[in-house]
Amino acid sequence: MNLINRLGGLAFGGDYNPEQWDKSVWEEDDELMRRAGVNLATVGVFSWALLEPEEGRFDFSWLDAHLDRLHANGIAVDLATPTASPPPWFTLAHPDALPVTPDGTRLVHGSRDTYCLTAPAYRGAARRIALALAERYGDHPAVAMWHVHNEYATLCWCEHTAAAFRVWLHARHGSLDALNEAWGTAFWSQHYTSWDQVLPPRATQWHRNPGQALDFSRFWSDEALAAYIDQRDAIRAHSDRPVTTNLMVPGYQNLDLWAFGREVDVVAIDHYPSAPGLDAAADTAFGGDRARSFGGGRPWLLMEQGTNTVYAGDRVLAKEPGEILRHSLGHIAHGADGTLFFQWRQSKAGAEQWHSAMVPHAGPDSRIFREVTALGEVLGRLGELAGSTVRAEAAVLHDSDSWWAMTVDGPPSSELDYHTALRRAHRALWDAGVTTDFARPDDDLSRYRLVLAPALFLLSDTSAENLRRYVAEGGTLLVQHFSGVVDARLHARLGGYPAAPLREALGIRVEEHRPLRRDELAVLSDGSHGTAWSESVRLEGAEAVATYTTGMLAGAVALTRHRFGAGNGWYLSTRLDDTNYAVLVDRLLAEAGAGPDLPGLPFGVEAVARQAPDGRRWHVVLNHTTDVVALPEPGHDLLTDATAHELPPGGCVVLRLP
Ligand code: GLA
Repeated sequence: MNLINRLGGLAFGGDYNPEQWDKSVWEEDDELMRRAGVNLATVGVFSWALLEPEEGRFDFSWLDAHLDRLHANGIAVDLATPTASPPPWFTLAHPDALPVTPDGTRLVHGSRDTYCLTAPAYRGAARRIALALAERYGDHPAVAMWHVHNEYATLCWCEHTAAAFRVWLHARHGSLDALNEAWGTAFWSQHYTSWDQVLPPRATQWHRNPGQALDFSRFWSDEALAAYIDQRDAIRAHSDRPVTTNLMVPGYQNLDLWAFGREVDVVAIDHYPSAPGLDAAADTAFGGDRARSFGGGRPWLLMEQGTNTVYAGDRVLAKEPGEILRHSLGHIAHGADGTLFFQWRQSKAGAEQWHSAMVPHAGPDSRIFREVTALGEVLGRLGELAGSTVRAEAAVLHDSDSWWAMTVDGPPSSELDYHTALRRAHRALWDAGVTTDFARPDDDLSRYRLVLAPALFLLSDTSAENLRRYVAEGGTLLVQHFSGVVDARLHARLGGYPAAPLREALGIRVEEHRPLRRDELAVLSDGSHGTAWSESVRLEGAEAVATYTTGMLAGAVALTRHRFGAGNGWYLSTRLDDTNYAVLVDRLLAEAGAGPDLPGLPFGVEAVARQAPDGRRWHVVLNHTTDVVALPEPGHDLLTDATAHELPPGGCVVLRLP
């Protein structure tokens, strides 16, 4: 059963952990959820100890009562499996299922997420409780969807992991000879002569073998996905409701989220901005565009956000008045069919007592709860958007192999960070008002006018050929420094970078990498400057657009353009400053013929179009500035059910297009 049909509109609610409270609070929850317009509550995420108080003995009585109560109150349930937090009895019975860090420390219970996914005892127990829940609640009228686990993120380097890793390596490489060749074990005397010598990349004296580290990331991602599929399939055997798991912000999970996107019935993400103000809005768009892309463009669900949570380094900042609504509509704009929070009621005790919630410690007579209630009202008016999608003409390439490959030991500069590069590329497009997809380098890219490849360190032969074809057939592609440098086995491309078919499309050959000193500037002939990185690039058909004017590379090309087939291949060999990177991206957009969904808005005002399969369209417009902003054209605003001509400072409209 489709979640949206079931809810009849957008989803709104949050993680509900009623086991922290007593009956009088539950009664107040019922009333407050109705008042706020909540229609979906995630229940049971951390409830293993209550559900299975001792091994194999289940107690569902308390959950029965809560599901019945929520159902009677008109609230659908996103029922979680509690497997992210095994209870203490589990640890004591199965110490071998506790995770081991790379330096050999075995962790203990007392927190959460303390398990090893490869331990048979853990996997068995997780499957068993998922099955028991599915058997009992598979067709419970309250249950609208299933939430497997929580943010698969724990890694482990134990003996179970070593055994599973060897099985995975055998399947991938076929033979020990092939593994030795792939990992380059001829160097540093690392040659393996039997499988049991092969270990996960634990703490070592110096650089760990890069091939081993990359394969471990791939292996772990496959293992986590298999753990998800175990539970999903146990649930599917007893329930026709959609199943998902919540994916997290970049880097938090060492997973290939594209693969998860294929296996979940609806992509769900958790999103907590990592900086305040306009950066939070850009980060929201980044998270939303990733989520939509992982699901191949399908509507997705914001499973968690914070009412008052902006993680900014060493402190948690509060959201400004109006940001609960604007961030939520930001997610809706980028294709979410609903927004939920962690959590409904702020804990009075326990590990997350200072984490924000829909009902704060202060209670319902509070700014936060008033903003939550206002959001519920707004979402109630946006039901017609449910099921509609977002289309993008620009894409940023996003590849897990490249990410993992850039995290192995021994990179030539510590200033190369995969997700930072991705964020910069996305941000330049977002600042230009352009809606952006993420895509993989081997995807069919033909629907995009412009593709940015900001960090494609690892590039397989197939992907290199795919990018060549994209340009030949009319695409505009910008490839940035340190891309196409290694193949799928992490072996350097010989004879010049990047990989040959891509070199053909770009009309250049990179001869040498020249990382810059910290704080060194590479000044270019067009007045822009690069930091962190430079390269010695040779023209092989491309034209020089800008050259280096300083340092060892003075006079050499820095930025190139190659008219290749029907398209254009651009290459940028340094990390351009933000302003000039934005200028370059604007130029590429103009040349590629891609632009904003709603042109004519000033900087800091975001507009994204959603489109229904039957052709109905809406513009979600968010004013992130402190100015009053006139709309290019007046339109019917669903939030006020009236014609809107302008946006107040920080204001939002959702325009139904004629
Ligand atoms: C994650 C978890 C939640 C909660 C929040 C806090 O998203 O899933 O349980 O811990 O972080 O931000």
